[in-house]
Parts: sequence; structure tokens; C-alpha cells
Amino acid sequence: MSKKHVVFVCLGNICRSPLAEGIFKQRIQELGRQDEFVVSSASTSGWHDGKLPDQGSIDIAKKRGLDITDQRSKKLSDADFETADWLIGMDDSNFENIRNMGTPKEGQLLKLGQFYPASPNKCVPDPWQQGEDAFAFVYDMIEQSVDALLEHIDAQG
Ligand code: 4NP
Repeated sequence: MSKKHVVFVCLGNICRSPLAEGIFKQRIQELGRQDEFVVSSASTSGWHDGKLPDQGSIDIAKKRGLDITDQRSKKLSDADFETADWLIGMDDSNFENIRNMGTPKEGQLLKLGQFYPASPNKCVPDPWQQGEDAFAFVYDMIEQSVDALLEHIDAQG
């Protein structure tokens, strides 16, 4: 069976998408499904290429028992459009930026917020320079969205 490629995308790939990558990987590991997936994350800007996740993301992840310090920021590439089964943006501007960088295939482009049970279609807000509570909110929102995302992925085959 070929692996499912999931790429989480935000503006900087230092705050939201590294958390989404880490939380999603942790969840599939808990379910014993890690071998089914290739999971990564990327930015639309390239502004922070090569950098560690933002300290706010590292701290909230650590507090919740997740280490994301193996990640480094990188820009979404043409290869991602080719290989990803799903490109998962965090907000409407990510969505627009992704569309400006390539031509997503049918069903390839998703917003993580569409899977947020408390308020479907809410954007995952940018926590950059917004303090600890903003990072905690983003962490919770992603954590609460990944199961419905997995259901969607499973339904798509
Ligand atoms: P992210 O947050 O898109 O969740 O990684 C941001 C990180 C950096 C900047 C903006 C948003 N920035 O303007 O450098």
C-alpha cells in the first residue's frame, strides 16, 4: 500500500504547521498507524527557512508532552504539490497563498479548521508574537481537529 502524504501549511512554518505536524504524528503513532503516512509541514513564505519552530510552539508542545525540536522551517515546493495527497492550510490567506504557488489537484487542498468540532471552518489563528495563551489555543484547536481529519483521510482512501 502506498503511503499517504500529508503536508501542513502556514505562513511561516514556525508556529502553527509545526504544531500540526507534531500533533498529527503523535496521534497516528498512538493509533499504531505511523507506517501508513508521510507527514511534513511547510511555509508559503520561505521567510524562516532552516529555523527551528518558534519558542512559543516549542514551549506549548513541551508542556503537553510533545517534542517538535527536530523540525526546521521550509518553503512549500513544487514537489509537495506533486507528492502530497493533502495540503492542509491553517487560514484563508494560507489557502490563497497555496493556490498562488501551484495548482492543487481535486480534493488536495483542505483547511484544518473544517475539522474543528467546536466551530467548524474556524481558521487556526496566527499566534506569532501573541503570547502563551494564543499558542495554547492553537494547540487545543489542532489537537481537537486531527481525529476528524483522519476520518476524512480514511474516507478518501
Ligand atoms: P505561522 O506564524 O504562519 O503559524 O508560522 C507566523 C510566523 C512568522 C510570521 C508570521 C506568521 N512572520 O511574519 O514572520
